[in-house]
Amino acid sequence: MVQIDVIGFGLGAALTLFAVALHYSKGTGWTSTKDISQEVLEQRAATVPETDFPEPMNRSIGGGGVAAGAVAGGESGELEEGDAEAETTSSSPADIPEDEVEYFEVEFVKEGETIELSNNQTILEQGEEHGWDLPYACRQGQCVSCAGRIADGPAEDYVVHDNQQMLDDDELGDGYTLTCVAYPRDSFSIETGEAP
Ligand code: FES
Repeated sequence: MVQIDVIGFGLGAALTLFAVALHYSKGTGWTSTKDISQEVLEQRAATVPETDFPEPMNRSIGGGGVAAGAVAGGESGELEEGDAEAETTSSSPADIPEDEVEYFEVEFVKEGETIELSNNQTILEQGEEHGWDLPYACRQGQCVSCAGRIADGPAEDYVVHDNQQMLDDDELGDGYTLTCVAYPRDSFSIETGEAP
């Protein structure tokens, strides 16, 4: 028995010593790698060329602190200010305040009805609100799906286009209009579903 106790004690002491030694040993250790995500982002931003046109998001990191934003320097700042100004001063007929809105009699030839349209809503919207299923696709003046024709002559004598991009001067002169971006400015007759 005594012998077994000695062996057991010896084993226990050895294990304890091993544990203590392990505790004080240095080991390989683990240290986290340096966070380089910001650097990578800045490098990427610096490789993208600046554009001359306004962009919806500033590409520079941290809201204009370094990298691409810093390259353009004050110039980009001025551009952004200019854009902001242009945005606030560019007016669309849709922004006409209610107390300044004017109304015009507009005959929809194919629908066989004349209705009163305001000058702060497009022909398309007001026709739809009246219950007509009028043709359209993009609703942004970039196709001709919503086109109609004002028989009385140059379309822009009767409507204001807010950023139509499809009709040329001849077509406008022939009375064609894109109803999704056209706001009445006078009374007229229109044939919907007529494209040049
Ligand atoms: S719906 Fe495309 S231009 Fe009007």
